Amino acid sequence: MNTAPTTAHTSAPRPVYLDCDTGIDDSMALAYLLRSPEVELVGVGTVSGNVDAARAARNTLDLLALAGRPDVPVAVGAHHPLAGEFAGPVPHIHGENGVGGIALAPSDRRPVAEDAATLLGRLAREHAGALSVITVGPTTNIATALRRDPELPGLVRDVTTMGGAALVPGNVTAVAEANVRNDPEAAAELIAAPWDVMLVPLDVTLENQLTEADREALLGADDPLAQAVGAMLDHYFGFYTPLYGRRGCALHDPLAAAIAVGSVQPTRAPAVELVIDTTHGPGRGQTIADLRGQRLGPVDRPGVRTRVVLDTDRPLGPLLVERLLGTARAAA
Ligand code: BDR
Ligand code: CA
Repeated sequence: MNTAPTTAHTSAPRPVYLDCDTGIDDSMALAYLLRSPEVELVGVGTVSGNVDAARAARNTLDLLALAGRPDVPVAVGAHHPLAGEFAGPVPHIHGENGVGGIALAPSDRRPVAEDAATLLGRLAREHAGALSVITVGPTTNIATALRRDPELPGLVRDVTTMGGAALVPGNVTAVAEANVRNDPEAAAELIAAPWDVMLVPLDVTLENQLTEADREALLGADDPLAQAVGAMLDHYFGFYTPLYGRRGCALHDPLAAAIAVGSVQPTRAPAVELVIDTTHGPGRGQTIADLRGQRLGPVDRPGVRTRVVLDTDRPLGPLLVERLLGTARAAA
């Protein structure tokens, strides 16, 4: 398994748009993107999930200010899912304010006037053919952008989306993962669109973790963003400790970021038909991946453009700490 430090990066950074419900692991994903020379974060849209969309934008602006990147535009997106109403925040996981109850210095910036779907559509045209879209919350904004502009898929380079559970149980119901469960109709529209999608499900995100030693390293960093992440992790670890039997946490959203960046590579990610359960029964929000016939190795179904990540080449934890501490080998 490759655990070597990141090597120097020389080519021009690729533009990325992040759609998130900021959120502690969303904060880690944001920090990871900001500290990855392979990409340039050109915009962020927010959606209700871990917190409401307006709060998520506030948290994002504060984190961007802390990172010295107040220039990145942040757009508030959908408060409610496509069908139904926002189910409410999850303070037992992400804290009352979404960032583990820590007080981030308030940014003097405001969200941009356009909504997240409009920002995404505009950025896709400005960076036609080059923009990578990363979603780490419910995908309402993406579905809205697709409805508004059917040409969007042809303008976007690729989509990496944290969500779903292929061969493992869900985390909010027996079969459903939170991001998909919070807006199954939007997830179905994202999957149905004609673009390349990399689904990063619980199968892999739960297998990538941070430890107490990682948290302490971040907390002791000589860097305000890394320190803030270390501080908010205290609350997040509290939620995950019973799951893992030791202090630590899963790396859902940062894994999607790292895969989109290319610093973590999927080693098993077959292109397979994926059905999102949009019924109102017990299966609502389930991601049903047709993984039949994969026993002897990954088999791509012809014409399918959605890949489901089932394995990766390296553990994200050490890499994430390395990037946030700035100890990766010199970047271009
Ligand atoms: C996903 O749900 C949210 O709570 C996390 O931020 C992550 O995006 C994990 O199921
Ligand atoms: Ca999230």
